Amino acid sequence: MKEQLDQILADALAEVPALAEQGELEAFRVKYLGKKGALTAASAGMRDVPKEDKPAIGQKLNEVRGAITAALDEKLAALTAAADAEAAGDVDVTLPGRRIAKGALHPLTQIQDRATQILRRMGFALAKGPEIETEWHCFDALNTPEDHPARNEKDTFYFDSGELLRTHTSSVQIRTMEGTPPPVRIIAPGSAYRRDEIDATHLSNFNQLEGLYVDEHVTLADLKGTLEFFFKAMFGEKTELRFRPHFFPFTEPSYEIDVKLVIKGKSKWLEMAGCGMVDPAVFDAVNQTRDDSAYDPDRLSGFAFGMGLDRLAMVMWGIEDIRLLIENDVRFLAQFA
Ligand code: PHE
Repeated sequence: MKEQLDQILADALAEVPALAEQGELEAFRVKYLGKKGALTAASAGMRDVPKEDKPAIGQKLNEVRGAITAALDEKLAALTAAADAEAAGDVDVTLPGRRIAKGALHPLTQIQDRATQILRRMGFALAKGPEIETEWHCFDALNTPEDHPARNEKDTFYFDSGELLRTHTSSVQIRTMEGTPPPVRIIAPGSAYRRDEIDATHLSNFNQLEGLYVDEHVTLADLKGTLEFFFKAMFGEKTELRFRPHFFPFTEPSYEIDVKLVIKGKSKWLEMAGCGMVDPAVFDAVNQTRDDSAYDPDRLSGFAFGMGLDRLAMVMWGIEDIRLLIENDVRFLAQFA
């Protein structure tokens, strides 16, 4: 039987080099190691082996099985490696991978999203209006007289049609009230345009966020509470606010809001927004378009505010030149990723 086992081993090992694919490997395994394979058949002969020889023959049987199994495993590993190498082709799989650049939102988008989120929590809905506006929506309906400097050719971009690039997002106040009966509680983020000399703090195209709340019994206290909540949510619980009397044609009374911020260890008051109680003349203008008296100034009151988003971003991150926000320099933008 010993010779028989040697023969099986020799046969098997002679076959291995020719095995070239999975199917052949499996057939080989069945032929030698399977339940009806050569080794199983040979081991039946154990019955006739004299008792004293059994341990040695048994051991031999195990050795042969082990050797065939090892040869099979080795061949399988070699075939797999060859298949991998072929699949990789000329690619050097040991080279480091190529980095995929990570995109991120522009700082202005981040600020706008954050501001919008805070105000939506307070029940303000998003509203929109066109950037090419009529004089009515940008000025007249906002109680801004013909001789107001904002209407000057030198300060505003006019089209031949008489339309203009809106100088503020306040036009959305008018459009909203013209299209929706009270109460309204909206915010409108978007671009605004002025013929400003471009420098570190001025661009001819900048971004604002408008807010408008009109209902019965809206008071100055609501305005203060809303904006205090907003700026604290934006800049932190300890943020201080100052309402400085001011003038806007479309609000009465009007204020500018300064926010006290600590910049490079020093605290400083920074002008952040304009606001006020909606002037009754604005309600009158809206009613005129609507051809009803839905916005009855005797019954309703409201507040409005407008803030510069670029300004907000600059203060938030200590950006010293507004032009950085439009230059799309990746070295700058990557800092906000
Ligand atoms: N529209 C004003 C501006 O651009 C800001 C403002 C909005 C003021 C709403 C009062 C109420 O300066």
